Amino acid sequence: MAATKFFSDFRVSDNVSRMKASSTMAAMQAADAMRAAGVDVVDLGAGEPDFDTPQNIKDAAAAAMRAGKTKYTPAAGTRDLQQAIIQMYQRDFGAIYERNEVMATSGGKQAIFNAIVSLVNPGDEVLIPKPYWVSFPEMVTFARGQSTFIETQENGFVLTADMVRRAITPKTKLIILNSPSNPSGRVIPPSEFKDILEVIAEKEIYAISDECYLRFVYPPATVFSAAWLRSELRRRLCIAGSFSKTYAMTGWRIGYALANTDWTRAMLKVQGHSTSNATSISQAAAVEALSGPQDSVAAMLAEYSRRREWLLSALNEIPGLNCPQPEGAFYAFPDVRGCLKGRMRTSADFAGELLETEKTVVTDGAAFGAEGFIRISYATSLERLQEGVTRIRRVAESA
Ligand SMILES: Cc1ncc(COP(=O)(O)O)c(C=O)c1O
Repeated sequence: MAATKFFSDFRVSDNVSRMKASSTMAAMQAADAMRAAGVDVVDLGAGEPDFDTPQNIKDAAAAAMRAGKTKYTPAAGTRDLQQAIIQMYQRDFGAIYERNEVMATSGGKQAIFNAIVSLVNPGDEVLIPKPYWVSFPEMVTFARGQSTFIETQENGFVLTADMVRRAITPKTKLIILNSPSNPSGRVIPPSEFKDILEVIAEKEIYAISDECYLRFVYPPATVFSAAWLRSELRRRLCIAGSFSKTYAMTGWRIGYALANTDWTRAMLKVQGHSTSNATSISQAAAVEALSGPQDSVAAMLAEYSRRREWLLSALNEIPGLNCPQPEGAFYAFPDVRGCLKGRMRTSADFAGELLETEKTVVTDGAAFGAEGFIRISYATSLERLQEGVTRIRRVAESA
């Protein structure tokens, strides 16, 4: 019997047809497919912790289910979670937020999506420093905004207030900041961050501060949130937070947004008509994550530090490869241009060669707007990292 052809006249909407599929998710799927086929893959593409969610958090979720906390919640989240977020920001950053400035979201990603689509009109310019997390420009595209990229390579991928000032035009509406950065791991120093927000206040544009890697910084850098800035500098700011990385909760899909009441009300409209609310069980788990013991976060950070130290020196011993010191997140972002010879002309070729001949997954920097670089995640065991670096060295030396 001939196969029925469903959806033969399906036409994707203009908004979505302009968006690119996620290259980081594609890398994840490629690694999965190879593993399923029994290949010994070294996966350095992962954008998620290799640790399990701490037990106290899982227990809180189980207790919530047993207690029947399995219903819809208010779109902004449960009172308990809103309070836990407010208390954490007051305790750790001295910031006062009211309940109508706080909302729980389905991951930090939804906080950023809500913030963009509730602010950006067709044709508005949105400043995105390079290298950027892959989803930022796609969300701007969805909102029919215009992404304008800021080059930061001259300053080792660290954005400055001067760069922001130079990039602003009369059409600029918003800037998306991400420190510690995915993919570069670079951190904007607090004094520079303050100067950037002063430019934003002066030029009357808005800012999203994606603080998904907030807790993962390495000395001498220290944990810094834009919430720490004085309240006048936060009037035009939306902070997007996440439980995914800090508490190894990527699959729980839980995050939050902090913004002024008008912006929050608009974001609630978007969320109320899309996902309604973040999962009730994940919200209960998130309360425990913020209010319970924090030793698991310290243990994860210590392990990332150990891997980072080993990885950076090992990478810099590979001829032609140059890796500056990232201060945060769990990525190294080496420059591989010195390894590009013969058949390998681009960082995509380098990543492709690694995948094909060495069964090793890294992410091509071009996906983040930085051709010539690759992203290596150290959210994997030291043994796998060591194996991965041996394979990377073989590819670099074969060029
Ligand atoms: C820079 C950045 N922002 C936001 C997110 C979203 O994280 P989640 O939606 O899991 O909270 C990620 C996830 O990889 C990220 O790397």
